[in-house]
Amino acid sequence: MTGDETEPAPAESAVPDGGESDDERTLDPWGSATVSDYQNLFQEFGIEAFDDLLESVPDPHYLMRRGVIFGHRDYRPVLEAIQHDDPAAVLSGFMPTGDPHIGHKLVFDEIIWHQQQGLDAYALIADLEANAARGMSWDEIDEYAESYLLSLLALGFDPEEGTLYRQSANRELQDLAFDLGSEANFSEFQAIYGFDGETDVSHMQSVVTQMADICYPQLEEPKPTVIPVGPDQDPHVRLARDLAKRMRYFKVTRAYASFELTDPERELVADYYDRLDPAAFDDEMLRCEHLASVLATDEPEVDGELCQSLIEKLEAGGMEPLRPRTRFFNRRASEDAFEALVEAIEGEKRVYEGHVDAFEYSRDDAADLAREVELEHGGYGFLPPSSIYHRFMTGLTGGKMSSSIPASHISLVDDPEDGYEKVKAATTGGRETAEEQREKGGNADECPVYELYAYLLASEDDEFATRVYEECVGGERLCGDCKEQAAQLMREWLADHQEKRAEVTDLLEEADIELTSSRR
Ligand code: TRP
Ligand code: SF4
Repeated sequence: MTGDETEPAPAESAVPDGGESDDERTLDPWGSATVSDYQNLFQEFGIEAFDDLLESVPDPHYLMRRGVIFGHRDYRPVLEAIQHDDPAAVLSGFMPTGDPHIGHKLVFDEIIWHQQQGLDAYALIADLEANAARGMSWDEIDEYAESYLLSLLALGFDPEEGTLYRQSANRELQDLAFDLGSEANFSEFQAIYGFDGETDVSHMQSVVTQMADICYPQLEEPKPTVIPVGPDQDPHVRLARDLAKRMRYFKVTRAYASFELTDPERELVADYYDRLDPAAFDDEMLRCEHLASVLATDEPEVDGELCQSLIEKLEAGGMEPLRPRTRFFNRRASEDAFEALVEAIEGEKRVYEGHVDAFEYSRDDAADLAREVELEHGGYGFLPPSSIYHRFMTGLTGGKMSSSIPASHISLVDDPEDGYEKVKAATTGGRETAEEQREKGGNADECPVYELYAYLLASEDDEFATRVYEECVGGERLCGDCKEQAAQLMREWLADHQEKRAEVTDLLEEADIELTSSRR
């Protein structure tokens, strides 16, 4: 076998797509987790490509290098915190509905990697969700919860540095969930999750609980927080980002006059403001009606209605000066907090009914001040949480990896021999005959066995993963030997992991988390 001289596989082809082509156009947290078209997630849901950030990640995890972690929302603040050693957190949650399998290992690894980068790390057991959304009994929940935690610790999570909790036993979390619920309503749940009149209230409550999970690391102080999850959880992330914003006392925007403009109107004003000279109107300063008159004759290249409504607003403004300023909207602040903000603003300011305008602040400084005042008056000051997304693993039997089909996945507590057998029985991206394979090469991009190498078995060894890929597509690797090698590695990995699980039982006993729920 050769391969050392070959180029590393490009990121897009380093891992297969996962799942079948039955692409679901919605992301459903409680549905079947298949996503065939990851590209679609960028366009349709606004998830950003992780590739664009990869270069700035110091010492990226192999799941990042191999494109398994493919997308993110707003990961930059987390990255900057890593680079500058600033406070930041990582959190993810596990629903104890079965034993953890190799798909969950991806999330364990992501949490642990961030913990090793110095972030505050949180892992939670979503026992309320398992009970409410999946009808699991408390006995089952306790059993599986312990299994998740053992694997997490065995893989390297440090429970002394990090935080573990179960939803049902975390009072602060419940209080936060209740608070966040004040900014969410049923229509929204309907639109996002397809809930209807038949949906259990406890199921809805498990959603606000997850929103609280996602914001929980920021309870002590606001900090960038990354939530590593599969893309099926993206609706939760989006809602959490919205709620985090809605909880803020003040909204900071730019403005030009005392009255409110829409975003496109403001852009138009900004554009003209930079170009117009008050001298042209025989005045010392630019006023609303000056711009109104210019717009009326100028017919800028924007939608006529937009222009018309702006002209009307400006005419109503009359002689009011047009001046750029930073506006603090009062969203949910008490009178005290609003007054304190007004007091704290330095330099020229104008106070109105529901907002105050400041003339000597950059947007960033204004945002800092708003957060400071909010925190001093009992607010959370949340930063919108960030997320990273990993690809789902294809099931060993093809199709999706499903907890309910044992042959499709390898559980972290499977007997190593069973793990060996499951890999040996897996479908591959191989050709009909060895001859054809030598001639055309295998299809590593659609091979669950190759995925096993890339996601797990090759571990840190990029050269090894690349070699398997190149040898496969080059026709030098045949599926029989390839599976035998993978099966042996899987057997070793499982035996080793289970040994480590046994070694961390004491560590788990000492960790600050209840292993037995008081609920029955
Ligand atoms: N809903 C997640 C699941 O189905 C579990 C979960 C609960 C979670 N709270 C979370 C995941 C917070 C990420 C962050 O597996
Ligand atoms: Fe998959 Fe290996 Fe066969 Fe290639 S040689 S298709 S990687 S099993």
